[in-house]
Amino acid sequence: QALSGMVVAIDGPSGSGKSSVSRGVAARLGLRYLDTGAQYRAMTYWMLQNKVDVGDPAAVAADAGTPVIVSGTDPAAPAIGVDGEDVAVQIREADVTGAVSAVAAVPEVRARLIALQREIIGGGGIVVEGRDIASVVAPAAGAKIFLTASQEARAARRNTENGGGAGGVAATREALTRRDSVDSRTNALAAAPGAVVVDATELTLEQVIEQVAGIVIHTAEGT
Ligand code: DC
Repeated sequence: QALSGMVVAIDGPSGSGKSSVSRGVAARLGLRYLDTGAQYRAMTYWMLQNKVDVGDPAAVAADAGTPVIVSGTDPAAPAIGVDGEDVAVQIREADVTGAVSAVAAVPEVRARLIALQREIIGGGGIVVEGRDIASVVAPAAGAKIFLTASQEARAARRNTENGGGAGGVAATREALTRRDSVDSRTNALAAAPGAVVVDATELTLEQVIEQVAGIVIHTAEGT
């Protein structure tokens, strides 16, 4: 399979560095990039803006088809819009982060976003990051990576991303554990069959990008 038409699935838990790695790999290989977590976040942002009770799965399901979500696929400038509004900043805020696991657990939300993801993936040539890419969204992906890291490393990374906020690494680690537990009810936080596990704990971002890009190139050459 030619690299230019390949689908690269990168799954893994929160704080594993998936987004930076996925963008870096896409940029290096000249592929498009799709952040599916950003879509679940955009859906959640819309629900909160429109006063939908995100604790009520029936209410979330009823509105799952309403927001118009548009994802950019340039790894140099990831973009996410909902109903014409650029929400790249808003979707990273604490209220969205706190509610997204519940919204992502609603089957109608997943069905809608998975259909959208498959449309964007189209003929391939794209790095797709998420939780269920290799298992559900694109099981025929040419390369499948499961990116992980120790809980300490993931918490430290998230804490830095959050500006080293109140409570520090310990509080971030607790929040991460809670999210893992909710997320794992929706998607198994484990490698899909055929996925290569990459442990980022002891590696720099540049080293992980190098390793993943190497796996992708190797896979493209071997088929
Ligand atoms: O990767 P992230 O933190 O931006 O993901 C946000 C949430 O969306 C997280 O709770 C897991 C969920 N998610 C999902 O269920 N399926 C995906 N393909 C991507 C994210």
